[in-house]
Amino acid sequence: MSTTTEKSEKALTEEQDFLPLLGTDFVELYVGNAKQAAHYYMSAWGFQPLAYAGLETGSRDRVSYVLQQDKIRLVLTSPLVAGGPINQHINDHGDGVKVVALWVDDAKYSYQQTTQRGAESALEPVVLKDKDGEVVISAIKTYGETLHYFVERKNYNGAFMPGYQPWHPTFKTQEVGLKFIDHMVGNVGWNEMNKWCEFYAKVMGFTQLVSFDDKDISTEYTALMSKVMSNGNGRIKFPINEPASGRKKSQIEEYIDFYNGAGVQHIAVATDNIIETVKALKAGGVEFLYVPPTYYDDVLDRVGKIDEDLAPLKELGILIDRDDEGYLLQLFTKPVLDRPTMFFEIIQRKGAKSFGKGNFKALFESIEREQELRGTL
Ligand code: FE2
Repeated sequence: MSTTTEKSEKALTEEQDFLPLLGTDFVELYVGNAKQAAHYYMSAWGFQPLAYAGLETGSRDRVSYVLQQDKIRLVLTSPLVAGGPINQHINDHGDGVKVVALWVDDAKYSYQQTTQRGAESALEPVVLKDKDGEVVISAIKTYGETLHYFVERKNYNGAFMPGYQPWHPTFKTQEVGLKFIDHMVGNVGWNEMNKWCEFYAKVMGFTQLVSFDDKDISTEYTALMSKVMSNGNGRIKFPINEPASGRKKSQIEEYIDFYNGAGVQHIAVATDNIIETVKALKAGGVEFLYVPPTYYDDVLDRVGKIDEDLAPLKELGILIDRDDEGYLLQLFTKPVLDRPTMFFEIIQRKGAKSFGKGNFKALFESIEREQELRGTL
């Protein structure tokens, strides 16, 4: 009897969440010069060196630097030879996110569950071994040329994964207080938002948290639409944007033009102290979107009482928004690459679970100022 009950309960849990995700394992960017990119993320962003793979470790065609700050792991990869798929990726897209890797308990099961539901395979499950144990990885395709890896590392004690060696450069930097990835946003083409939201629902078991239409997210000139998809335990949140028509070019369309298709638009990273984090990032040379001082004239009327003094928020250009559950502080960098494509968001949540809808207008007017300077508005 008890076996039957356990079985049916297990079946129910699996039905509810057939793809349990423990968190984001790593984000891999394909870049033109991984060595210099690694230096930037260490010196400006306070990431710490973790692991390395390259000629010295037997990797003949690519080099990867792995950086870490608390739960955030970045992998920066460049080709070492001409004419390969990484070269083509960089040629097509510029520097950008290739892999959003998800940490799972069972990479083979995750692969089976998602491919059974229609995901296109990018890598069949493979066991990687070295003296520190084993890591199982598999991968499926998502929007554009972006991949989701499933990473199972419960039987591994090494720095990152087999094929990598610990990396201890003499250059030292301080962390800036970044804790974990709060959400990662994908930009997809015209009329493709629903298709990709359905992909996350059907193939990965995500549900929709919120949606914004072009009435929420438009200025006099440009517009976009967005839906936020979340996995069962809420650890993984993927908002999906598509352009909407306005009098001038949507910032999403600008992204799609320069990235040559769909891709990751921004990585939102969480901090417990946004004032100190942003001060440190600015000292390191990270550039943020301009927020007009007038934004602060009536912001407290809109969001109510907050714990922080307004003066440092205003000085640093940190935005504030509130929902039913609390408030949040956020701000956005300028694109961190040469093409106007990917950027970062710094976010501190004080109860709020939303994404800063109240700031969209101020934010997009700021982005338009930048687009105007680029001649792409
Ligand atoms: Fe965001």
